[in-house]
Amino acid sequence: MSRKQILAGNWKMNHTIEEARNWIRRYQTVQKKGYLMDVLLFPSYTALYPISKEAFKSGITVGAQNIHEDENGAFTGEISGKMLVDAGAKWVLVGHSERRTLFGETDDRINLKVRQALFCELHVILCVGETLEQRDAGEHQEVVRQQVINGLKEVHTSDLAHVVIAYEPVWAIGTGKTATPEDAQEMHAAIRQMVKEEKGEAIAEKMRILYGGSVNADNASELFACPDIDGGLVGGASLKPDSFLSILRAI
Ligand code: PGA
Repeated sequence: MSRKQILAGNWKMNHTIEEARNWIRRYQTVQKKGYLMDVLLFPSYTALYPISKEAFKSGITVGAQNIHEDENGAFTGEISGKMLVDAGAKWVLVGHSERRTLFGETDDRINLKVRQALFCELHVILCVGETLEQRDAGEHQEVVRQQVINGLKEVHTSDLAHVVIAYEPVWAIGTGKTATPEDAQEMHAAIRQMVKEEKGEAIAEKMRILYGGSVNADNASELFACPDIDGGLVGGASLKPDSFLSILRAI
């Protein structure tokens, strides 16, 4: 089964509108050709609308880093799926470890967000991953299993084609430490098996599973060559267009 790879850049709370525009301009200048993978960028909410059209011209699809689980209402400071679509987003990240740990998002809430995003016809990257303590205690597969099963609870089979899973071990995010290709492949194969048990073989075979956590041009090709790794979610190395492009070239 061949799955189209994805390279996704998560800018987190970085880049003003002007900086985001400059990023796209530089990408357009340096980019030599189209790439055979889906290229996604997750800018700040404020930069979404200003860059979405230019990004699209360069073959990049934009998405948001979060979504509220309700359609609208008295939720000061939150953003709805409809607003994200309105601003040009086609994708949304749900359950990033920073949302889980710094903002207390639970599996139940993450599940509601996944379903709301799909209801709004957004594509979803559901992020999962264990902490170092959980890995050291040998609990990593069970932790990730719960995150996958709970995150995808009651998601319609027909909607699962619009869901991608990103395995991001918490200890590898922003630390410069990457999972070895062997450890990453083992977890990705385990996640595919979990999806198979929950949702069936056909869906599991089609499901794209990304690796995230200190991906850069030096480690990307080895990681993305693993049979169950279908691309990556990149934080720090996506902030500069040149380093993001060097990952694209390395794969
Ligand atoms: P990193 O972040 O590439 O800086 O480790 C990845 C992420 O948080 O998605």
